[in-house]
Amino acid sequence: MERNLSLVLQPRASLERTATVLRFTRTERAVHWVHAVTFLALLTTGLILSTSVLEGLIGHRALLREIHLASAFFFVFGPGLVTRAGNRVAVQDDARAFDRWSGDDARWLRHPDISPTPRTPPQGKFNAGQKLNAIFTVYATFAFGLTGLILWQNRRFPYPVVTQANTIHTALAYIALAVFLGHLYLAVIHPATRHALRGMVWGRVRADWARHHHPAWTAIADEAPLSLRGVAQTAILLALGLEIAALFTRVAFIFLGANATDAVTGAIYRWSALPGTLSNTPTGVHLLDLTAALWAGFLILVRRWILARRADPSA
Ligand code: HEM
Ligand code: HEM
Repeated sequence: MERNLSLVLQPRASLERTATVLRFTRTERAVHWVHAVTFLALLTTGLILSTSVLEGLIGHRALLREIHLASAFFFVFGPGLVTRAGNRVAVQDDARAFDRWSGDDARWLRHPDISPTPRTPPQGKFNAGQKLNAIFTVYATFAFGLTGLILWQNRRFPYPVVTQANTIHTALAYIALAVFLGHLYLAVIHPATRHALRGMVWGRVRADWARHHHPAWTAIADEAPLSLRGVAQTAILLALGLEIAALFTRVAFIFLGANATDAVTGAIYRWSALPGTLSNTPTGVHLLDLTAALWAGFLILVRRWILARRADPSA
């Protein structure tokens, strides 16, 4: 009773400050953190591999390369798998928001007000700077993936192609490091924007902060609470998705005539085989492994069946 009374007596302004809105669903947060954590692993291992002083100090080149490759697999496939297994409508809405540009965005870019003033063009869920960051992230992921694949299977490509891929891969790593440091500063240090971190960790932000920074954003409705069935379904969908992603990588290996002598390639090769049909020689992936394609087809059907029967697709 006393608590209720104190709520009633609370001044309106202070109530407004404590009211929160949902900014990112569980799926959006999981997509962000899968990408962020794997990016940091790639950045750290990549920079050690490319800096002879650090490499000399730390050693373990083969292990660092395996960590780099394993992180790359989750960096490339992780966000898509999490989206498909979770609330994909929320992620698609974000993708549409990143892609939708208006005159206000162009005006904002001319006067990028990180702490909005009354003259700042009103911004939606993401301001124009955030949209550029998201677009850079998507294209950089493709470029890292393509050049990384060439470096991974370097014996399959002509020498000049591998050299070019190496130059682009390394240059992109330094550009991505600079963009990431700016992103980190805004998310963790800058007083006007660091409140956003609550949204990316816990999902909710203060309503008055959201209105001030993103006045043209209509907050999303609350999401369904977690249920045991929903969590189990998501876990199964993720496991099946990983297996299917491994198969797609294997198909790329077939075209490349890859050999599976490093640990990560070997693991992908083993995961994606129809159980009991794995060839004994780890080198030379061959088309006889079409059984693996049948296996993937079966997994895709099982996955579709589970997706059609999900307890709550928005959970
Ligand atoms: C997206 C998937 C990626 C794949 C498949 C990939 C793959 C590779 C491979 C195979 C190498 C060669 C390792 C060796 O020297 O033995 C490499 C090197 C490297 N990677 Fe990646 N990588 C990816 C993403 C990234 C990202 C996101 C970063 C940094 C943000 C990064 C930074 C580096 C750096 C700095 C090197 C060292 C290049 C050099 O030797 O000069 N990579 N990567
Ligand atoms: C420790 C590291 C990181 C922290 C603390 C962090 C924090 C955040 C926060 C708080 C947001 C939400 C901003 C909002 O409310 O709109 C966000 C969004 C985002 N983050 Fe990160 N992030 C990190 C790493 C990364 C990395 C490594 C990438 C890309 C490889 C990335 C890509 C994005 C993108 C594309 C968005 C949406 C657009 C934007 O707000 O810029 N983040 N991040």
